[in-house]
Amino acid sequence: MEQLLQQIDIYKTEINGTIANTKDELEAFRIKYLGTKGLVKTIMGEMKNVAAENKKQAGQLLNEFKIFVEDKFDELKNASENGAASIKAQELDLSLPGTADNMGTRHPISIIQNKIVSIFNRLGFSVAEGPEIEDDWHNFTALNMPENHTARDMQDTFYILKNPDWILRTHTSSVQIREMEKGKLPLRIICPGRVFRNETISARAHCFFNQVEGLYIAENVSFADLKQTLYFFVQEMFGADVKVRFRPSYFPFTEPSAEMDISCLICGGKGCNVCKKTGWVEILGCGMVHPKVLENCGIDSNKYTGFAFGMGIERITMLSYQVKDLRLFSENDIRFLNQFIAVT
Ligand code: DAH
Repeated sequence: MEQLLQQIDIYKTEINGTIANTKDELEAFRIKYLGTKGLVKTIMGEMKNVAAENKKQAGQLLNEFKIFVEDKFDELKNASENGAASIKAQELDLSLPGTADNMGTRHPISIIQNKIVSIFNRLGFSVAEGPEIEDDWHNFTALNMPENHTARDMQDTFYILKNPDWILRTHTSSVQIREMEKGKLPLRIICPGRVFRNETISARAHCFFNQVEGLYIAENVSFADLKQTLYFFVQEMFGADVKVRFRPSYFPFTEPSAEMDISCLICGGKGCNVCKKTGWVEILGCGMVHPKVLENCGIDSNKYTGFAFGMGIERITMLSYQVKDLRLFSENDIRFLNQFIAVT
């Protein structure tokens, strides 16, 4: 019994002095002391040699010893796990650049729309918006296109079958009417928005696209004001070298009407495929608001005059970035969209 006690003390000292830095050393400890052929099992086997009267006390001693070894093993295990974690942390190189988050980019149509709006903002135009589902009056009739007017055929309209008076607006000119009807003059607005036409989708046409409409109504507004305003816009949008020209045209809601071309941004006017060898590309329609349109909105056409213009944002975007296919704008292809970074 004395001998067993002494023996256990020696083992305890040995065990207390053990360190296990690695997984292998920890495993070696487990095998040596707690394994099937380990020390604890071996000295438990000694019980059979203990005299009967000492058995109870020896049993207690050995049990305590077993618990002591198991506690030590747990302690070593915890220490080695913490150690591994701290070694891992040391291996981290915090000076390495991280993986950048994908921030996304603004859609090219939004970039150009914002740029157009901000140019006109500087001239005192404020943004006005209207509904995409419009009624016949605001989209057609008030704009001097009564029923059966041939000009309605210029725009293939989507009708909402439930109510034939409702349509998807074919242009943002409808917002002009809504704003003029409010009766607050003078009026200087810019109206960006989505429009819809029943067209076959191709590289040059889509069933939905975006327009910006402009309208200025006050006393003594002239065609010269219209030209100067649009000239300023072109210079700001495309640069000081770009030239403009106006060609007579027809729109039911303006009189006189014009279309405006700019000198080709690709060839500078020499003639290329983009301008079809003419040196010019058309970018918008415009004119002096027709007196009938003013009267339709309750505005005295003897007192007030005004100009209006409308342009396709996709077209301006295609010219700005040299995009050749309109469909790219609505396909959500990240490889296309990632290439646009707003500069303004
Ligand atoms: N609404 C016309 C279209 O969609 C564009 C337009 C032309 C608007 C002349 C105007 C304008 O305000 O004066 O084709």
